[in-house]
This record gives sequence, structure tokens and C-alpha cells, in this order.
Amino acid sequence: MFLAMTSSGNLLFAKTIPVQLKCEYHLNPIGIDVTSPRLSWQIVTDRSGYLQSAFEIKVSSSEAGLKNTKNLIWSSGKVASDQSVNVEYTGAGLQPMQRYFWQVRVWDNDGKPSDWSAPAFWEMGMLQPSQWSASWITSPSEKDNAAAQPAHFFRKEFATAKPIQSARLYITSLGLYEAYINGKRVGDELFTPGWTSYKKRVQYQTYDVTSLVGASNTIGAIVGDGWYRGFIGFSGQRSYYGTKSALLAQLRIVYTDGTESVVASGSDWKTATGPILESDIYNGEIYDARLEMGDWCKPGFDDAKWVSVATYQYPKENIVAPQGDPVKAIEEIKPVKVFRTPKNELVLDMGQNLVGWVKIKLSGKAGDKVTLKYAEVLDKAGNFYIDNLRAAKATDIYTLKGGGEEVYQPRFTFHGFRYVMVEGVEQIAAEQVIGVVIHSEMAPTGTFSCSNELINQLQHNIQWGQKGNFLDVPTDCPQRDERLGWTGDAQVFSMTAAFNFDVAAFYTKWMKDLSLDQAANGSVPYVIPDVLNGAGASTAWADVAVIVPWTVYRVYGDKRILEQQYASMKLWIEYMRQRAGDDLIWSGDFHFGDWLAFASNRSDYTGATTEKDLIATAYFRYSSMLVSKIAGIIGNEQDAKSYAALSDKVKEAFIKEFVTASGRLVSHTQTAYSLALAFDLLPESLKEAAAGFLANDVKSFGHLTTGFVGTPLLCKTLAETGHADLAFMLLNRKEYPSWLYPVTQGATTIWERWDGQKPDGSFQDVGMNSFNHYAYGAIGEWLYHYVAGLDLDVQKPGYKHIIFHPHPGGNLTHASAEFKSLYGLITSSWKIDQSQFNYEVTVPANTTASVILPIAAFESLMVNGLPVSGAKNVKAFRDTENTKVEIGSGKYLLSYQLK
Ligand code: BGC
Repeated sequence: MFLAMTSSGNLLFAKTIPVQLKCEYHLNPIGIDVTSPRLSWQIVTDRSGYLQSAFEIKVSSSEAGLKNTKNLIWSSGKVASDQSVNVEYTGAGLQPMQRYFWQVRVWDNDGKPSDWSAPAFWEMGMLQPSQWSASWITSPSEKDNAAAQPAHFFRKEFATAKPIQSARLYITSLGLYEAYINGKRVGDELFTPGWTSYKKRVQYQTYDVTSLVGASNTIGAIVGDGWYRGFIGFSGQRSYYGTKSALLAQLRIVYTDGTESVVASGSDWKTATGPILESDIYNGEIYDARLEMGDWCKPGFDDAKWVSVATYQYPKENIVAPQGDPVKAIEEIKPVKVFRTPKNELVLDMGQNLVGWVKIKLSGKAGDKVTLKYAEVLDKAGNFYIDNLRAAKATDIYTLKGGGEEVYQPRFTFHGFRYVMVEGVEQIAAEQVIGVVIHSEMAPTGTFSCSNELINQLQHNIQWGQKGNFLDVPTDCPQRDERLGWTGDAQVFSMTAAFNFDVAAFYTKWMKDLSLDQAANGSVPYVIPDVLNGAGASTAWADVAVIVPWTVYRVYGDKRILEQQYASMKLWIEYMRQRAGDDLIWSGDFHFGDWLAFASNRSDYTGATTEKDLIATAYFRYSSMLVSKIAGIIGNEQDAKSYAALSDKVKEAFIKEFVTASGRLVSHTQTAYSLALAFDLLPESLKEAAAGFLANDVKSFGHLTTGFVGTPLLCKTLAETGHADLAFMLLNRKEYPSWLYPVTQGATTIWERWDGQKPDGSFQDVGMNSFNHYAYGAIGEWLYHYVAGLDLDVQKPGYKHIIFHPHPGGNLTHASAEFKSLYGLITSSWKIDQSQFNYEVTVPANTTASVILPIAAFESLMVNGLPVSGAKNVKAFRDTENTKVEIGSGKYLLSYQLK
């Protein structure tokens, strides 16, 4: 390592080098099928104010080949460019199943080159359906599929005769699979092949299994029901995608002599059922360890009782490589206590509402049965409470085989829980149990903290809400018989999500399914992947088609997602145009509206009900405005103009229909005013009046009244219209309804409802009362953008230019945010020290930043201990409202005297 840090964090050896080489958002991915992959790197340097002026990329089929410039597959040459994120590969056509090594070097603003980076690679997967020589196989003895089915085991023995250079397993299933070679689990991914719109596409995974294959071998897999044919959706619906589970596997072995062979699933494989009697996403697993089959996946196992598989005619055209992040077991959590409830139930408290399962150590006689039930909360009396899980049984049942310690954890199912009830044992020690937290393996990117511990707990709850609901698709909730990719929830939370974790790849995958499931007339299903037979087109839900790609563009500078989703976005706008008709007021259709808004179902007060037509027309304006901008970004000037015109006309129509001459809206609600102000739906002359109505409504209630639609916009709109004091009041409020009320009740995740559990311990409507629903967590965006002051500049997306604008308020004495952007770490941290305001920021190499401070700060402003006029590489000036400081990469402490 050429770099060394002193304890104060300074670099000792002066050097610059590109690091964190990523391809399609992943480090060294294998099995991708993007034919012009995008490459990104970060620049580590001791130089402040670093800007990349050029780059050079080399690509070769071997690591050694990178040294020999004659045999390169692609050499970009020196390209004058400041782009270090998502640079497209434009070399020769990429070959299936080949690995490509690459390296990059960069030049700085003075034309000085860096060293070459360490080599990185990506590896292509299958690129054509014809490359699958394997056949789909299934069990010939499928039962009636009305109930959960036992998981099927598949196996095949084979030998190799020559020394092996490399081996890759390409594999997928209808249902969920786990693969094994010679008794060892292949990889550590869970819930493979992932959840896509299966009728349109199924993902396969690629595993490097070189170390698992030897001279004599067995390859095998277990396939369970999963989303494909288990219970999914509502009303006991099963088999949405198909009634047969199946496996498709192809092992490619390359020998050291350059020859290759393939072991592929086909009629010569055998199948049986074993200990997994049922595995269902909602209901849990039933496992009888007495039926375990020992070394079923090792050579020499007696499979006389196994039967030959049936091959299954199922298309191979739409089998695609994954774009998202695999689901994995990410952390483990120890129970904080074991106790008996008043009803004498034996219960473990994990101390955190989490998603996954428990791994438990047991001993007993063969045939002893242990039942694990999962719950999010205890009821008023302190008893185990599962009514809010609706029809989801969320139960794992394990039958012991006897003869010593047994360790059990389920698969092909997950539970949303904080409490676990154990039946069938006299006692349980906390040491016997561990909570396994599973979610998509997104890199954590953001933190927020401040001087108020309750708000810090809120941030914790937001992050756990995301962990629990980012399990291959963004779900509404992880516990009841739902767990669907609800579009409205995802839309409002997307910017917050992109702060907490790197969601670029995750959303890219999900958006693809959206465009596949979108109806020809443009209607976007309520849930993606759609399992509700196309039901959709609710305002603010369907707009996810535009808003999520827009978020990915803003946060990661990703233009490709805009290009890829553009047709889908446009289709959605045209759907709205068609439904709205000539007057451009979208009226009369079904919408969810400001879902779960305060008092919307109270007979004594209807004021928090925002008219659905108003919301629909507001979103019509907003999404068409975004599509106009997006069209401009991807170079479609004509659409940019026509959608801008449409959007402006919708605004005029909105004003005519919903706004009075005094700036009052027909729905006099916080949500209506927030929408109108945030989506630019008012004439300039009425904005202040409307903001006044909003502020007065907040004052007269003393709290928010918003649901899913208004909540994400409320604090932002108040703050931006001169009412930051009210926004902070809402943030700090501890009584229902508020963000902190659940925190005061011990919540460890975000609740679906403002009053999921009431102060007296009673519950909201059991029909819909999740304690892990991230939608209201959308306030997170405001915490880091506004309160901590770490914001982006949409003109230079991906945080290429950063806007630092801290907003002390709400009695906070400090707040800080950290964000690992694609360029590197950004920090924004302010603190009030008596009469001094200290503000520390970090700007990564190859980015620039503007710091915005109050106008009065200018007089006493110091930068890194020097008066601002003398500070190096810093430009400071006053405009009419602010002090502005322009800075390049580096670390800065800005301080000034508070009056
Ligand atoms: C889900 C929501 C969703 C809603 C539609 C509920 O069942 O849990 O979060 O957005 O339906 O309004």
C-alpha cells in the first residue's frame, strides 16, 4: 500500500490513484449481460482541488495482457474528460462467458498523470438463449398445487478426467433454488433467482465454482415454491406465475488444456423430496429433520429411491443476468431477553424489529417438534400479538431427528419480527438463538446524526425500515400476507433510500420489471412485479415510473436509466393525458389518494381529506414536467418542448379548477398546499398566500395531517416557504401524530400508521397495521439535505457538484451527514459552540462544491483557521441573500460568529 495515514488523517506519501473500480455499480461482477458496461472509479489523492482532466482505460482478456499494450481488447487512449462515473465501454464486442480485466489512469487539472490503478475485472454471462444447452427439469410427481408443496431435491453425478482451470455454474429456477456441489453450498446468495416479472423474464446467477469441482462430483439443487408458485398477493392466491417448479442448470468446465465440457440439467438427473415439507414466503417452513438425506449431494450416495426427473418445456428466451444486488444474510443479532408473557408464552425479544429468521440450537428426541412463531409487537397486556399478520402464518415448525445438538434455520421464507415465540420446549436460553437479518446486499452509503437522540432513533428506524423492505424488490411491508412492490411507497421513499444505501443497481432491476409489467395503454400496476392482474394507474403510485429513474439520475448521474425507461415514462404521461381529456383535469378515476392521512375516516372532521382529482392533476403536472426535463437530458428536444408545454397547460388547468383568487385550494389541507407549492402549481402572486394557508393549518392543528402523498413534501415545503420553525416543530413533536410518537413508544422501525399502537397500548385496525412500512420514513431526505445540509445539484448530477447548505433549527446544537457518493465520501457536519458556528465539510476528488451560509456569516468567516480572504483555493462572496463559498476537493472547516 503506497498510502499511509497519520492519526490526523493526512496522507503521508503524495500520490494519486484511481480506486474502487466498479462495473455496472459492482466491484468485479461476474455473469453480467450488459453489452456496453459502464465503468466507474474514485480518485484517491493528497491534492486538494483535484479535478480529472483526462482518463485512459485499458481492457484485456487476461491480467498479464494489460501490461502488453499490443493485445488489448480496448484501449480508450487518453480521453480529455472529467467523467469518472459510468464511462461506457466502447471497445470490441464482448464475448459470452469471458472475463475482462481493466485498468484506468487519470490526469489532473495540471495535466499530471496518476499511476495506473490496480487491475479489476468483469465477466460476461450467457448472452444468447442458444447458449443454454441445459433443459428445464421438474419432478414428475407434483401434487395438487392448492397447498404448499415439499421442496424438490435434484442431483446428478459426473466425473472429470483432466486438470480443471475454471468452472462456472449458470443456474436458475421457477421457484427458489439453493445449489450444491459435492456437499457444499454454492455461493451465499438467498432467494435466488430473485423476484422479477417471471412471465416476462427470469434471472439466472453465475457462480465461480472452480474450487468445488474435482475428479468425481455430484451437482444438486433444492427448489422451493417461492414467489413463483407459493402464496402471493391477497386472498390465498397461489401459483400466480405457474403451477410447476423447475430447475435449469449448466456447469461449464474449462480444462487447463483449453478444452471444455458442460454438465447440464436434463433427463438424466434424479429427484426426490426430503425434509422440507413446506416452504412458503408468507407461512414459513415445515421441516422434518428425520427425513434428511445425509450426503445426497456427494458422489456414491445411494439414490435408488430417487426418481428420474421430467423435462419441462419452458422458454429460455427471457433468461437474463441479474442487475440488482443479491439478497444475503447481512448481519446477526442476539436476543436481548427471554421471558414468559402473561399468557405463559415463551418468548424471545430480539430488541429490534428485523426481517429474516432465527437460527436455533436444539436437542431432544427424534420426533420432538419445536414451533417458532414470529411477531412484531406485544399487545397491551404484554402477550404475543399476530393479528396484524392477517393470513400469513409466519411459523417455522422443526421436527428433531434426535441424537445430539441440532441447528435449524429455515430457507425460502422470511419473517418480519422482533419477538419469537418458541413452543415445544420447556426452556430456552438466549445463547441458543441468533437472529439472521437478510436483505439485498446494497452498500451502506449514508449516515445522519444530530444532538437529539429521538431523531437519531428515527434515523435508525428509517434505515431498518429499508433493510427490512429491500429484499430484491422494494416492498410495502415484510410480515403480513402482502410484501409486495407497492409503487407509491417506493416512489415517496426513493430519495431517502438512495441516501442510506447504494440503490442504483437495485432500482435499475426493479424499473425494468416496471416497464415489462406496464400495460400497453400506459397504466402502471399498483405493485411491481405485478401479481394483481394488472390493476393499477393510481396517481402518485404509478408516477414511480418517472420518479425513481429521476432519483437514480440525480444521485448517481445515471443517464442510461433515463434512456432505458423513457418509453415507459412517456407511456405513463400519455395515459394521464388520455384520462384527463381536453380540460387536463384528471377526474373521476380510482386513486389511493393521500393514503392513511390523519383523520381521513373521522366523522367529526374531514379537513385532512385531499381531493383525489386534485392530487391526480398535481402529479400529472409534476411527472410531465420531469419528463420534459428528462427528454432534454437525453437529447430529445422536441419532447422536451412539448412536455414542458403540456405541463404548463396542466398547471393553468389546475389553477382554474382548484385555486381561488386568494390562493386558497379547494382541499384546504396540508397535503394539497404541499403539492401545489412543491410541484409549482401556483401563480407567482399566490405562492406566499398559499404558503400562509399551509402554515396556518399546521399552526391550528399543531401537528401534521398528511398521509403517504403529503408527508414527504410537508417539512420541505414549509422550510422553503419561510416556515422552517414549523417544520422543526413537526419534526420535534412527540405526541401522535408525528414521526417521534412511535419512537417514544419504543419503535425500532417505521410504522405504517401514525398510531399503529396507541398510547394506551391498543392497536389500529388489524386489517392494515404493519410496524415495518418505510413510507413515512421519507422524512429522511429532509434530514440530510436540509437539516445537515448535504444536497445535490441537479445540473451536475451524481454529486459532481455538491451544495452544502446547513440549516440549524429546532434546538439542535449539531447535525451531520455522511454520504459515500460514486466520487467518494462527502461529509457535512455543523455544530454550534457557544457563539460560534463550526461547519466541517469533505469534498471528494473530481467534484466541486458550493457552501451556502447566512449573509451575516461573511464578516467573521474563517476557512481552515484563516480569514476567508486569505484561504487558498476558496472563492467567497455575498449575493443578495447568502454568503457563498466555492470550493474544490478537500476538507474544510468553515466557522463564523453567531450574533
Ligand atoms: C400497502 C400500502 C400501499 C397501499 C395502497 C397497502 O395494502 O401496504 O403501503 O401503498 O396498500 O394504498
